[in-house]
Amino acid sequence: MKITKPLNLGLAALAGLAFACGGGEKSTETSTPAVTESKPAEPVQEMSLEEKYKDDPIYVKGIAKVKASDCTSCHMVERKIVGPSYADVAAKYESTDENITMLAEKVIAGGVGTWGEVPMPPHPNLSLEDAKDMVAYVLLLK
Ligand code: HEC
Repeated sequence: MKITKPLNLGLAALAGLAFACGGGEKSTETSTPAVTESKPAEPVQEMSLEEKYKDDPIYVKGIAKVKASDCTSCHMVERKIVGPSYADVAAKYESTDENITMLAEKVIAGGVGTWGEVPMPPHPNLSLEDAKDMVAYVLLLK
């Protein structure tokens, strides 16, 4: 009895606080993604994408060209920095010839608006072949 009473009071105070901060509904909404995010513990997640594909010829060829260019200053494999992460790009596009060509042309011409307001600068010195090898590597990373 002595324990439950102050606890109830505490909960009531918390509920009051949540209301004070702009409505109970919103506060439950924001707490939901945090709960679902910690749920999936699939073994796939334990191996980094780099590890997973490091022996794939598309990976080996593509990463060499990506590293020789400026891509890594704006893109990381699994984290968004200036540009989207390669994993996010790979999740968005299927690895088809059409998509590889379309994205390679975008890397060469530059572009904006697909991922936000920040533009990707053009890479006019890249050949279409090199850009396609890079994009094929990017789209592998899923
Ligand atoms: C100065 C920063 C910067 C550099 C350097 C850069 N990118 Fe990007 N990249 C971006 C940004 C920002 C976007 C998102 C553009 C958009 O929203 O349309 C992007 C988007 C992309 C996309 C997805 C395009 C789409 O339409 O979904 C690919 C693929 C890509 N970059 C590959 C590369 C490759 C390969 C290189 C190296 C040759 C490179 N990027 C260099 C900033 C950069």
